[in-house]
Amino acid sequence: MSGTLGNEDANGGPVRHIPVMLAEVLGALAPAPGKVILDGTFGAGGYSRALLEAGATVIGLDRDPTAIAAAKDMLAAHGDRLTLHHTQFSALDRFAPEGGLDGVVLDIGVSSMQIDEAERGFSFQKNGPLDMRMSGEGVSAADVVNRAKVSDLTRIFGILGEEKNAGRIARAIEKRRQEEPFVTTRDLAGLIEIVTPRRAKDKIHPATRVFQALRVYVNDELGELAGALLAAERALKPGGVLAVVTFHSLEDRIVKQFIGARLGKAGGSRHLPAVEPAPALFSQDGKAMISASEAEAADNPRARSAKLRAAIRTDAPAPQTGLDAFGLPALADIHRLGGFEN
Ligand SMILES: C[S@@+](CC[C@H](N)C(=O)[O-])C[C@H]1O[C@@H](n2cnc3c(N)ncnc32)[C@H](O)[C@@H]1O
Repeated sequence: MSGTLGNEDANGGPVRHIPVMLAEVLGALAPAPGKVILDGTFGAGGYSRALLEAGATVIGLDRDPTAIAAAKDMLAAHGDRLTLHHTQFSALDRFAPEGGLDGVVLDIGVSSMQIDEAERGFSFQKNGPLDMRMSGEGVSAADVVNRAKVSDLTRIFGILGEEKNAGRIARAIEKRRQEEPFVTTRDLAGLIEIVTPRRAKDKIHPATRVFQALRVYVNDELGELAGALLAAERALKPGGVLAVVTFHSLEDRIVKQFIGARLGKAGGSRHLPAVEPAPALFSQDGKAMISASEAEAADNPRARSAKLRAAIRTDAPAPQTGLDAFGLPALADIHRLGGFEN
């Protein structure tokens, strides 16, 4: 997680932006003049800036229009080698040049810019509308807590937030919204504090997991990630590199299983006839996963949970794979929220 462009520090000066695991990401992508690299999570442009400085041509995507709008200066400085698009990264293959991409990088999650702005509604530490939509469009977190069935809320909090008190919190939400709908982040955080009081040994605020779950659900973050991995597989040229930084086990598991399944190792069990190995779609020449260095983790707490996985595309043709192959959790269709009954 990274990105603070547009914010101010306590003295009113601009906050320094620190992209997470930048050196490792650059090591994996090896940017150079003539290479075309797609940054699917442009954010504050930390990765893109470094890729441009190394001479690469960059295609930047972000679903948040404010991230794209804030990049005017970068566009002016590198306009010949930088193009930006306001779009979701699951569609990244639409932006690949003929012949394919040399690299795709994804830095999954929200930016500090999004978290720090109270009116975006991502943070229970700042009061703001209960929103959480990165794109500013569609169903908001308030719509979800005010309209989803208790059983669906329980699954969302339990699966996407790994919240042990999911059922209790969902029932308390239902009771409270009958009297008054949820409007602000404090409304929800306050209720969760009452239902699951903080114990001395708890390291995180009791609302942390529910807020994470709502954010992941509202933005379909797992579906987007799975879609982006398949799109990258289609868009990378042979030898092109996929590099993904994640911050949560749910996301890391998707990347790990995707790359693992694409390495083309033989399947089967010792009790069954050997299964022909599928052609490898990716290879790996380094460690399967790297974490941030101790020095970076000490400097930037957000880097502590970061995991980078990188893989190199082979020349095997991309198969027709749908999202079903990922076994993503089955949750209520967010687009039907208006039709839910309690
Ligand atoms: C962690 S920040 C990226 C920071 C960036 N690497 C940097 O160095 O400044 C993640 C960014 O990805 C964007 N994002 C998240 N999910 C997305 C999606 N599905 N499609 C496009 N952009 C997305 C967010 O809006 C946010 O700006």
